[in-house]
Amino acid sequence: MNTVLKALKFRHACKKFDPAKKIPAEQLENIIESARLSPTSFGIEAWKFLVIESDAVKQKLRPACWNQPQITDSSHVIVILARPGLADPAGEYIKRILGRRGLPLDATRAYIEKYKKHMESEVFPRMSAYAWCSKQCYIGLANIMTAAAAEQIDSCPIEGFEKDMVEKVLEIDTEQYEVAVIVALGFRAGEQKTRYRHPIEDVVEYM
Ligand SMILES: Cc1cc2nc3c(=O)[nH]c(=O)nc-3n(C[C@H](O)[C@H](O)[C@H](O)COP(=O)(O)O)c2cc1C
Repeated sequence: MNTVLKALKFRHACKKFDPAKKIPAEQLENIIESARLSPTSFGIEAWKFLVIESDAVKQKLRPACWNQPQITDSSHVIVILARPGLADPAGEYIKRILGRRGLPLDATRAYIEKYKKHMESEVFPRMSAYAWCSKQCYIGLANIMTAAAAEQIDSCPIEGFEKDMVEKVLEIDTEQYEVAVIVALGFRAGEQKTRYRHPIEDVVEYM
């Protein structure tokens, strides 16, 4: 079977982790690298991956995450932070990030203008910079989970948290970073529940 499909069949939202099992360093590095290599719109990379391995920090974090046991029983928790301030079309960061491709000056200027127009006409009328950056963060989340599954490591994506509380507990500088989504990683304890999906004809249409 295709290795990605194999990983996706292995993956499920793990509710029960074995607290005694820790992810070996090399496998953790592979997972983090998969996050870093994830694509972002315009290559903006307005994110940060906060990897929590400390049991004390996980204990503090759990109440802010609906007291879900995955936070403390998993081996590692990755908090994916969005950096909405970096998406500002007039900001220095955008100039730097769109300029790093080494295009001629005119082409870089045109690219920055294209970004500005896109953000102003398509993105900002529909969502905040935080929401837009968070969408990119979810691509990182997906790749983290698939990369983990490819290493036979379980995961649970976590949106069940109180954002303000998580940011407070982790002492996040909210001028720069905001929590987008969280993922717990580790090893399953026992059998997992059945997964449900709509039949393919209900969710796929060819035209
Ligand atoms: C963005 C996102 C947030 C989620 N948040 C939680 C969560 O806080 N706690 C939890 O137990 N499961 C959470 N889930 C897991 C979903 O409930 C689960 O993926 C879905 O029921 C499908 O099951 P499966 O992933 O095992 O196939 C989340 C899933 C996603 C994609």
